Amino acid sequence: MQMLGAPRLEVGVIVPPKHFVSIDDLNQEEMDAVFTLAERIVEADIENVGFVLDFILRFLSEEEPSRPQTKRASCAGKIMGVAFYEPSTRTRLSFESAMHRLGGNVIGFADAKVSSVAKGESLADTFRIMSSYCDILVLRHPLEGSARWASENSQVPVINAGDGAHEHPTQTLLDLFTLRKEKGRLEGLKVGLLGDLKYGRTVHSLSLALVRAGAEVALISPAALQMPEAILSRLLRENGSAVRQGEAMEEFLPGLDALYVTRIQKERFVDPSEYERVQGVYLIDKATMSAAPKDMLVLHPLPRVGEIAPSFDSDPRAAYFRQAAYGVPVRAALVALLVAASANQQDESTVPAAGGSRLRAVTCANERCITHSEPDIVPKLVKEALTDRTICYYCDAPTPVSAKGTTSISARARKGRNASHGQG
Ligand code: CP
Repeated sequence: MQMLGAPRLEVGVIVPPKHFVSIDDLNQEEMDAVFTLAERIVEADIENVGFVLDFILRFLSEEEPSRPQTKRASCAGKIMGVAFYEPSTRTRLSFESAMHRLGGNVIGFADAKVSSVAKGESLADTFRIMSSYCDILVLRHPLEGSARWASENSQVPVINAGDGAHEHPTQTLLDLFTLRKEKGRLEGLKVGLLGDLKYGRTVHSLSLALVRAGAEVALISPAALQMPEAILSRLLRENGSAVRQGEAMEEFLPGLDALYVTRIQKERFVDPSEYERVQGVYLIDKATMSAAPKDMLVLHPLPRVGEIAPSFDSDPRAAYFRQAAYGVPVRAALVALLVAASANQQDESTVPAAGGSRLRAVTCANERCITHSEPDIVPKLVKEALTDRTICYYCDAPTPVSAKGTTSISARARKGRNASHGQG
């Protein structure tokens, strides 16, 4: 059965990036490949994933594979390394479950305090070492731009499992998968993003992907937690008429197809009193949702900490547990694709020399950027393709700089293909 809304993919249509550290790293065709494969995994039952490798090779090869189906688990003999410097339940465990289901193995740490990070080892050295032990690496880290820096120090694909308040692109894949599966399409959908749009990394990646896919977004938050200007300006440039902003949830509810609720990110507030002022500002329960359409989905990346009442869980619109469950097939599809593509491409097998950059050194304006913590990182600014302003290469923070300090390399063009896989 073809997934509703998913285009049929032809042989040899995609050249995936080596790493997945930003939602910009996958184009629409590559995302479609992930969704189509994830759907096949859901349908086939994830315990029977012998078809995955052959399925992927059809996307990656110029010709139909001539050999018979192998039925070999696609990641048999492969090792995933997980490096989690911040707490996680869903992301880490769904990655681990996905890798086990694909026939591979997992090593790593769920808490950096039990690794040599506690002795002061840098992220660059940690990833140089881990990439010599593993075939694919997954990083969660509190600093923005950390995943990009880790990828520069890894011989194997790196997946961003959340870098500070910056991005959470694999969460976006499963969010989009849920919307497509339950609503049948993304184009034209009206999606409300509610809560902490300032520090919530999931909504940063998701809003960009939704507008790119032709959906409309309503950005609903307290004034203090609005979408960062850097992302808002990209959304407006992409399609200004697809973006609305406001504070009152009830004003938007009647026209929505889905409401994506987020937790107020307490751990990212510098001033605890600021958190106290905004916590509990929105509540999803039977009463507040009586104003919403009967078929409006309620999504949440989870964990929830009070913004959705447990009594709402039995409402058919509550889709957040199904959404979390899709994390396994969607991440399995992504991991299988990147591992197969990496084995196919056999390039970039060496780690760049520490600090080796031909770009001018500058200072990022964002205090939470990885460039302020790593000993041998060379901060760089690049021009953002859509807005033409200078941003940090690692964390995307707008950083004004004199003409002398800028570089002519386009951030999006360069980062979007992870440097060397050269297609648009
Ligand atoms: N959605 C999400 O990232 O959950 P975890 O923090 O539990 O991984």
